[in-house]
Amino acid sequence: MCQINGAEGTITDELRRSVAAGQLGSVLNEVDRETVIALQQIAMNESRLGIPLLFGRDVIHGFRTILPIPLGQAASWDPELVQAGARWAAREASVQGVHWTFAPMIDIARDPRWGRIAESLGEDPYLTSVLGVAMVKGFQGDDLTASDAIAACVKHFAGYGASESGKDYNTTNIPENELRNIYLRPFKAAVQAGVCSLMASFSDLDGVPATANRFLLTDILRNEWGFDGFVVSDWDAVRQLSVHGLTEDDRASAFEAVTAGIDMEMASTTFARFMTELVETGTVPISAIDASVTRILEVKFRLGLFDLPSVPSVEMTDDEQSAALELARRVAVESTVLLKNDNATLPLDPAVSNKIAVIGPLADDPYEQLGTWIFDGDVSLSVTGLQAIRQMVRGAVTFEPALTTSRDRDPEGIARAVEAVREASVAILFLGEESILSGEAHCRTDLDLPGAQVELVRRIRKVGKPVVAVISAGRPLTLSTIVDDVDALLYAWHGGAMAGPAIADLIFGRANPSGKLPVSFPRNVGQIPLYYNHKQCGRPPSAESMAFIDDIPVRPRQTSLGMTAYHLDVHPSPLFAFGFGLSYTLFSYDNIVVSSARIPLGEPVTVSAEVTNAGEVAGVEVVQLYVRDLVGSTTRPIR
Ligand code: GLC
Repeated sequence: MCQINGAEGTITDELRRSVAAGQLGSVLNEVDRETVIALQQIAMNESRLGIPLLFGRDVIHGFRTILPIPLGQAASWDPELVQAGARWAAREASVQGVHWTFAPMIDIARDPRWGRIAESLGEDPYLTSVLGVAMVKGFQGDDLTASDAIAACVKHFAGYGASESGKDYNTTNIPENELRNIYLRPFKAAVQAGVCSLMASFSDLDGVPATANRFLLTDILRNEWGFDGFVVSDWDAVRQLSVHGLTEDDRASAFEAVTAGIDMEMASTTFARFMTELVETGTVPISAIDASVTRILEVKFRLGLFDLPSVPSVEMTDDEQSAALELARRVAVESTVLLKNDNATLPLDPAVSNKIAVIGPLADDPYEQLGTWIFDGDVSLSVTGLQAIRQMVRGAVTFEPALTTSRDRDPEGIARAVEAVREASVAILFLGEESILSGEAHCRTDLDLPGAQVELVRRIRKVGKPVVAVISAGRPLTLSTIVDDVDALLYAWHGGAMAGPAIADLIFGRANPSGKLPVSFPRNVGQIPLYYNHKQCGRPPSAESMAFIDDIPVRPRQTSLGMTAYHLDVHPSPLFAFGFGLSYTLFSYDNIVVSSARIPLGEPVTVSAEVTNAGEVAGVEVVQLYVRDLVGSTTRPIR
């Protein structure tokens, strides 16, 4: 029931002693193969019961071969591909001795100020459920005892994405109706798909932190859903119960967590220090310990840890490594979303484009394109956008970073970039946010392109050449400041090791964009939270009911401005909607037929359509069907 952090390839005396004394059930963040083997030998040969350790690691979007961030993968809307990515990550991680990953993260995220939206699969419970289950299956494989299978851990249970003001670790208040319809759905799907474990969230849910929330961890997870795996706390979250102010000290935190339903404590040591006394004094019944220990042991048995050698002997072959990179490229291609393509600026013809100016601080940075949560990522595998473009075109390619980083406010380098564009036939701008501005605890209130990037775009625009912008980011950025100044706009997220070749494939037409947004893009942060499946409310805005700030007459009557649900200074729609994404071809939808106009509740309904590629190039279309329950005993989403 106790998990502590590894010592990065060493075995300290403290670690050796704890393992030999059987005081640890799991170690996280130890990925040195030999150290894992050595620790496992101590656990199985020297401790009283010889129970093997469970080695855990955050394998979020690839292990050594980094794939696009999960939010990017979600834009593929391709469960098979997402599953293949997780399968590969498990293969790579298991070679280093990882048995368990703290992934997939399936928190519904409706607030791009929150840095962890990068790890999520977006704002929709259905898409997140399907892709989350695909990742669980990818990690766990068909046979958990296989040497390259690793246990999955869906997180963070539950409602973490609703952190107030998009500030990480912050309070969440979620009515049960919303909790069940939105935030719990993906977790229920993962439990039904056989996920081995869940991680409780740091966050305070309606006054009771998830780490001590019996309603979540026992009433729903165990009694309603019948989950039989185990629940691990988040890092130090048990001890933090006293920081929240739910408990007065670590002993009380240990009691509250274990009785609510936490089976394993990560990083803090309240269980190790107080559980024996809590049981001996009858404060915690031994049955609670038996329940937790049984759940953990069952996963260890299901993983075959009692029988398996500590780590699979099979190292990666070179062929496998190139297969992984090819997969990473495919995922990056399918994850990229074409948001704008005026006058068919894209695709460029590699033969004709005789002089390309590649501009921007993120055009040639093998590290930044990997994104957040890449503990074991191998940066040497990265191919950047600039490298890929140079490999693909015969004409001259000039490069001007213009700025030193995505945050650089010094415009001094912009003039050289403008000159390069003046000499070129087309400008390709690589913009966005560095990976450190995304991910855990990296929340922001201003989502415009950071630094002097907006000025860079404006000055490049003035040169008058076609401008293609490629955005690398871990969240929806507010693009209103540049969208009118570019001819084409590709959203590549943080696209992983093969982001460069994927972007080049798309820019030069070797691939046709098929990505669709898994999250709404606001026009400005004032619109947040902004998501497609919102409620109608009693006064929905209509075109005729809205008057905007620049059109409002001076001193009009108080009630003359529409009186509907919108902001005076921005249109209520997103800049780019959930599910949106352009293609180089055109798909037509014909003969859309619903099996019958009125369907009795519970009866199946069939909707069919003829989808035709009416354009000149091959392409992939994600057909989306939205339904609406017009009247319900509680109000229903508009889609
Ligand atoms: C972090 C994260 C969690 C991660 C864990 C172990 O704080 O909240 O998602 O799995 O600690 O790294």
